[in-house]
Amino acid sequence: MSNKPIITVTNLKKHYGDIKAVDGVSFEVSPGEIFSCLGPNGAGKTTTVEMMEGLRTPTSGSIEILGADVTQDYASIRHRVGVLPQDFQPFDRLKAPEAIAYFGGLYGRKMTKQDVADLIDAVALSHRTDSVAMKLSGGEKRRLGLALALVGEPELLFLDEPTTGLDAQARRGLWRLLEGLRDEGKTIFLTTHYLDEAEILSDDVFVMHKGKEIARAPPMGLVEQHGGGISILLLDYAEKSTDKVEAMGFGVERIRNNVKVNLTEGASVREAIRRLDTSGVQFRDLITIEPTLEDAFINLVGGTIVGGELKK
Ligand SMILES: Nc1ncnc2c1ncn2[C@@H]1O[C@H](COP(=O)(O)OP(=O)(O)OP(=O)(O)O)[C@@H](O)[C@H]1O
Ligand SMILES: [Mg+2]
Repeated sequence: MSNKPIITVTNLKKHYGDIKAVDGVSFEVSPGEIFSCLGPNGAGKTTTVEMMEGLRTPTSGSIEILGADVTQDYASIRHRVGVLPQDFQPFDRLKAPEAIAYFGGLYGRKMTKQDVADLIDAVALSHRTDSVAMKLSGGEKRRLGLALALVGEPELLFLDEPTTGLDAQARRGLWRLLEGLRDEGKTIFLTTHYLDEAEILSDDVFVMHKGKEIARAPPMGLVEQHGGGISILLLDYAEKSTDKVEAMGFGVERIRNNVKVNLTEGASVREAIRRLDTSGVQFRDLITIEPTLEDAFINLVGGTIVGGELKK
């Protein structure tokens, strides 16, 4: 497989009057990778994805996908791309197998009953084949949407929040499915608000905020650069004040009856544990906590994500 980027976006902008939905982003996506775009509500993720899907016309900048200039020649690559929109709605009165067969026809694919059944199985909807789409739950509709995105056997998938509304088990099932697709050599461009998902699945993460890039790296790179280092949790902390721990030069945070000790970057964990252990400070036990992509994200965007929304 060639290593030439499958997507090349250069200085892409989409302005709506004064609103700079996307304000000069550039990135490349390599073949066979899962590339995740993260960012709080309104960051510009969907606008970026929909420009790449040829649905919205950029204000300026360029998008090359599978060798084609999207603004000029999207039709030539359309059949090689699968799309799950953020606001996907299935046809209410079609059952999953009927919708899949119909979409197969649109892609010019002659699907056998077995092909349809395999696809339904892949998105774990086999038990719901007798229900019209309007009777499916939110998560089941999303899984049907994913099946429809896969109908044309695309090389490249755009999935805008594929796991929003899915229960924990379905979410994990979908991760396995996406990993399987990557193993087959497909490229996946994903947006998500679930940072654990991005950390587990992504080869590369692109963080957007207010229409601009604020970071881009593999997940572990982001955690290392922005995660804020290791911390130690003192369980059942029995002292009234945290003065003694602070006096040792540590950052301190009380969490219920525990105390979280934040080590400075590069500090020795072993040395910190030794000092805490011999300080006479009373606590039952301690555990070390590694930073996650969520920590890096919060440090990067300067707030906390609650239900997809950035709280400062
Ligand atoms: N058609 C439009 N007209 C005017 N403003 C728009 C339009 N589409 C998007 N916007 C604005 O552009 C910004 C980016 O929106 P976008 O939907 O791309 O964000 P997002 O990162 O996908 O957010 P979310 O996580 O909520 O899905 C928002 O401020 C939004 O209100
Ligand atoms: Mg969106």
